[in-house]
This record gives sequence, C-alpha cells and structure tokens, in this order.
Amino acid sequence: MELKIENLEVTLQKNKILNRVSLTVKSGELISLLGASGCGKSTMLKSIAGLLDIEKGRICLDAKEIQNMAPEKRGTVIVFQDLRLFPHMTVEKNIAFPMELKKVPKARQKEIIKKLLEDVQLPGFEKRKIKEMSGGQMQRVALARALACEPSILLLDEPFSGLDEKLRLEMGALVRKLQKERKITTILVTHDKKEALQMSDRIALMSNGHILQYASPTEIFQHPENRQVAAYFGKANYIEGTVQKEQFDSDYISCEAKGYADGKYELLVRPFDVKVIAEGSAVEIREMTYLGETVDLYLQDEKQTFYAQDISARIHAAGLMEGAKAGIEFAPESICLFPEEKE
Ligand SMILES: Nc1ncnc2c1ncn2[C@@H]1O[C@H](COP(=O)(O)OP(=O)(O)OP(=O)(O)O)[C@@H](O)[C@H]1O
Ligand SMILES: [Mg+2]
Repeated sequence: MELKIENLEVTLQKNKILNRVSLTVKSGELISLLGASGCGKSTMLKSIAGLLDIEKGRICLDAKEIQNMAPEKRGTVIVFQDLRLFPHMTVEKNIAFPMELKKVPKARQKEIIKKLLEDVQLPGFEKRKIKEMSGGQMQRVALARALACEPSILLLDEPFSGLDEKLRLEMGALVRKLQKERKITTILVTHDKKEALQMSDRIALMSNGHILQYASPTEIFQHPENRQVAAYFGKANYIEGTVQKEQFDSDYISCEAKGYADGKYELLVRPFDVKVIAEGSAVEIREMTYLGETVDLYLQDEKQTFYAQDISARIHAAGLMEGAKAGIEFAPESICLFPEEKE
C-alpha cells in the first residue's frame, strides 16, 4: 500500500514536535527515518499508527484518509525497541495474539505460525517461553508477530538497537528479505546511518521536527542538499573555489560543475576520495590511525588539514608513515558544491 503524509503537524505539551512534514512511501518500499535523538522519528510512527493526536495534516493509505480512523482499523503495526512480548507466554501464544483478535481459526493459526517461525529462522520454537530466549531470538519472535498481522504498513522503531553489530546486520538483512518477498510497505526508524544506507530504498533525514532531505542512499550520500545532511553521513573536507561557466577551479582541483551558477563555492570531498601518494611533498602526514583494513590520516599543507581514509595495505605498500611528506590527489566520486558560507 502507498502511504502519503501531507503537512503533518504534531504538538505535544505545547511544543511543536512535527512541523509540516510531508512524505510519500511507495507501495512495497522500505524507507528509513534517520536522525538524532528527539528529532521526532517515533512521533512520526505513532502518528501513522494513530497512537497520538495530530493537529493538522493528512495521512492516506492508498487513496483512503486514515488520520481520523481508530488505530486498530488502520492495519498498521509497530514493533517497538522494547518489543513488548509477553515473557511468560510461549512463542506460539505471542505470535497467535493478533490472529486471536482477528478470530483466525486455530488450525490456520498453527500453519501460519509454523511458516513464520521458519521464515524468521526459529523453526520448532513454538513451545519455548519468551523469557527463555536470547535478545536476538526475541526480536525474531517480535518480527514474526508483526508479520502475522499482515500489516498494511510495517513500522519498526529501532528494533535492532539493542543487538551487537553482527546480529544487527543479520536482523537487518532478514527484515529486508521478508519485507521484499511480501512487498510490505515499511518504515524503519534508526539513528544508525549504516543501517539506513544498507537497508533502505529511500532515506528521510530528519532534524528538529522536519525532513532535511528524502532520497535514495546513493543520492543522499553523494548529493546532500546542504552541509547539515553532508555532516550527518560522515566527515567531510571542503575545498574553496570558484565556478565560472560551469567549471569549478580551486588551488587543488578543477572539475566540471554542470548546473551551477557562477560564484564562490566549496567542493565536498569525502575522506575516501582524498588520496595520499608517495610522490610529492605537498602535505605532511600529521597523524595516522590504524583501524585494521583501513587507516585514518590527517594531512596538513600550508593552508588546511585534510581528513583522509584509505586501505591500510595500500598505504603500507606505498611506504607512507606518520611525519612523512607526501603528495595528495582528490578524486571525488561525484561533484557536490555548496555556496560559500558567509562569516
Ligand atoms: N508525550 C509527549 N509529551 C511531550 N513531549 C513529547 C512526548 N513524546 C515525545 N515528546 C518530545 O518530542 C520530541 C520528539 O520525540 P520522539 O520520541 O519522536 O524522538 P525520536 O526522534 O524518536 O528520538 P529517539 O531517537 O531518542 O527515540 C522530543 O523532544 C520528546 O521529548
Ligand atoms: Mg524514538
């Protein structure tokens, strides 16, 4: 189902929490709401599910307006971070719960539960009690219970944030697989940018009750609309220069700047697009931090510091060390210019 949110406004205790938010999630799409703590991500999910009153705006599922509909009529399901399973009950009873409410016949429930447990890789766990399971297993049960509802929209509020990185990646991949197979329109709330980039068709980056940018992972990473978005997705270097006749020129790099008007700009260069090379002496390697497969490097010339990331093996093979002089090259994957910031 397609979800369309138009000019949503939510005020809680006199504070405007969501400020004219508009967002469309296409049928079968998985999008992430990404943003710092308190920016309004959970409030968005609760508004869609009907768990809080909205002040203004429309929420439509396909063509139907749902903002005044009772929560249970909307067919939306939220999986919260704390999962809200019944600890003393069995896995089977937990997953059956929404089906009981819908009066699905018992025999059919059993079939569905068996299949769901296979899908979430917990085959045969029907009789296990929730309190006897690991955190990762509980999450799988919560996911199975959410899917048992056949939700119109699946809303996931940081369900993996309590897991270690390996399990989180595994759960993320499992959710993505099941969501794609079943073509469930899904909104995932996270403040982990890696998780958002890995899992989403599109990412809505939120700040302070509104959406800064809504785009595909590659688009939002390579073409952030402003510095705030760029900063959210990791460290950035900026090179000052000038655009004239769609050509960017600076002390360090010249490149085509299609679509940009003449003026002063700063070119965004991500750390992986800064190459330190053995030939040359333009910069000093001021600091080098070994991180296993990669190294972090601080490179200093007479004007500015550049932050670079590179493959350890390449840096090692080139004989580059802390304190040494080196050359520098810039190879941005895409050209992203921001108008120069006035002091
Ligand atoms: N019931 C409430 N009454 C008043 N203010 C609230 C209420 N619920 C949330 N808020 C406030 O609304 C803002 C947004 O909260 P929300 O839970 O949507 O943030 P979030 O983006 O999900 O953050 P987190 O990543 O920490 O979960 C916060 O400033 C919070 O204090
Ligand atoms: Mg939240």
